[in-house]
Amino acid sequence: MPETFPPSPEFAAQAVAGAALYDEAATDREAFWARQARELLSWDQDFHQTLDWSDAPFAEWFVGGRLNVSYNCVDRHVLAGRGDKVAIHFVGEPGDRRDITYAELQREVSKAANALTSLGIRKGDRVAIYLPMIPEAVITMLACARLGAPHSVVFGGFSADALRSRIEDAQASLVVTADGGYRRSTASLLKPAVDAAVSGDSPVSKVLVVRRTKSDVAWDDSRDVWWHDVVDGASDQHTPEAHDSEHPLFILYTSGTTGKPKGIFHTTGGYLTQTAYTHKAVFDLHADTDVYWCTADVGWITGHSYIVYGPLANGATQVIYEGTPDSPHRGRWWDIIAEYGVTIFYTAPTAIRTCMKWGDDIPAAADLSSLRVLGSVGEPINPEAWRWYHRVVGGGRCPIVDTWWQTETGAIMISPLPGVTATKPGSAQVPLPGINVAVVDDEAKPLGNGESGLLVVTEPWPSMLRGIWGDPERYRETYWSRFEGLYFAGDGAKKDEDGDLWLLGRVDDVMNVSGHRLSTAEIESALVSHPSVAEAAVVGATDETTGQAVCAFVILRGTATETADSVTELRNHVAKEIGPIAKPRQIMIVAELPKTRSGKIMRRLLRDIAENREVGDTSTLADTNVMNLIRTGLTTSS
Ligand code: PRX
Repeated sequence: MPETFPPSPEFAAQAVAGAALYDEAATDREAFWARQARELLSWDQDFHQTLDWSDAPFAEWFVGGRLNVSYNCVDRHVLAGRGDKVAIHFVGEPGDRRDITYAELQREVSKAANALTSLGIRKGDRVAIYLPMIPEAVITMLACARLGAPHSVVFGGFSADALRSRIEDAQASLVVTADGGYRRSTASLLKPAVDAAVSGDSPVSKVLVVRRTKSDVAWDDSRDVWWHDVVDGASDQHTPEAHDSEHPLFILYTSGTTGKPKGIFHTTGGYLTQTAYTHKAVFDLHADTDVYWCTADVGWITGHSYIVYGPLANGATQVIYEGTPDSPHRGRWWDIIAEYGVTIFYTAPTAIRTCMKWGDDIPAAADLSSLRVLGSVGEPINPEAWRWYHRVVGGGRCPIVDTWWQTETGAIMISPLPGVTATKPGSAQVPLPGINVAVVDDEAKPLGNGESGLLVVTEPWPSMLRGIWGDPERYRETYWSRFEGLYFAGDGAKKDEDGDLWLLGRVDDVMNVSGHRLSTAEIESALVSHPSVAEAAVVGATDETTGQAVCAFVILRGTATETADSVTELRNHVAKEIGPIAKPRQIMIVAELPKTRSGKIMRRLLRDIAENREVGDTSTLADTNVMNLIRTGLTTSS
């Protein structure tokens, strides 16, 4: 029996969520969501139908309702007399600080909305955002939401090529970027990647540039505009227009099983309802007193839902930090928690494992007594890391919420509720009230306790993706074709003897490296785009710190020879094509790849090699000698 941690009576007594939520949602799920939508958000026009699932799998939530997301995240808090409350404590990596109240945020977002309008952006136009973790990222997202111009945030660590393909897929007409951002004490430039991404034929007509690092950047007068020239002088008055509940709010690209990233798109009313509800219930948010901090980047879904939309819809006060946890020293995060009295802290297992490796004395040197709830997201958290987080960071008193969800789900789906659930190290445990999931076998038969299978969501949920941008067929095919009427998440899961869920990782060709989703096919196509590569196969191998690591097996072209330089060059080539996060940890040059008779690469066998294991069953290989050839080749060349 795994050990459990029941909530303390004091915590339970003050908790936002109660066990009654489960009963309420089980009695009438749609009524439960309708109540959340009406209580947590301000609607310009009430909805007349909670869910329209008649055109499944295309959902409409809160049909007929109209609202403005930016008004909900900003203006209404000011109107309610909370304008002086700090929305964002910004901490720049070099040590600069900026506190932004809700009243200031309202002025900044209004100015940005007016500036975007002056640059030609209208409702429905797409805006690409390629920014570091600075307040302007949040301000731009909210300005877009205000205008009804869907944003497409591209993580600043992605390459120019990755940015170009995302801009083209969404046909974005404007890019908002910065000269650069600070990363490990140096200015890391962003503008040159934008210049490359929009050169030649491009839908982009304007590039709006925030001055952050004061670096020298190339300038095109006909296209580039400084933020301080157009935003700072714009009017700080802007009247938000109400948008339809199903109006697209944003597109966010994520890796799938093919080489082409998918533009996951989310809409307005349902997305905001579920992000606000989950942010409040899962983190036990007491907006008047809590100081919340999520360490994600706005370039990922976690940043969208739990830095921008959920916390601001709830009127929370939060910390936003620009840099890495080890800059200028390994105690930076803990110092920030102590300085601002952070009470709710949300981070990823890979970061927890890294801090664990650095040693207990580093967090122990800071005063972490303000913390009261800890969260984890992005990959399964191993029980050892969970216990360390609980004991060393949480002082043994903070409930840990291990939150399972995806870019596609938009908001948290499976998690304990603090104050209600007795938490269990390593398990995400139970679907939230209002969410229905199952673990099924290959024939969609629901499995019972003690069994492992595939995770599916059995009922539509408010913040579900509404599709893949421009490709409704791929949406149906990817998520709804494996099992009739069930959403296929792509994750394996087990139900333990208590019925608690344990997530077992991806069952498809998607890897999870440091909580970032990468597709094997995308990296393979980056590798074969190099002139010296004939063929490539990529697998995710278990890695103690990053969860999984990218391992590539490469066959060189006849004329190319293997040198240490060629491996380095190939690693850099992947970084250039996709971004540094996709750089293989290891590239093995091989003479052959293991394939089935139908020509499919058997990644399972390559994973055995990458993880230094005895190679498994090779009987379905077209040429059963291939694995010997690979093994021998690797031992002689290393
Ligand atoms: O495999 C699951 C894993 O991350 C995938 C979703 O990745 P992404 O869309 O980038 O969103 C990450 C942040 C929400 C899932 O299919 N994953 C996410 N959270 C957990 C997790 N696996 C286990 N436990 C989690 N708490």
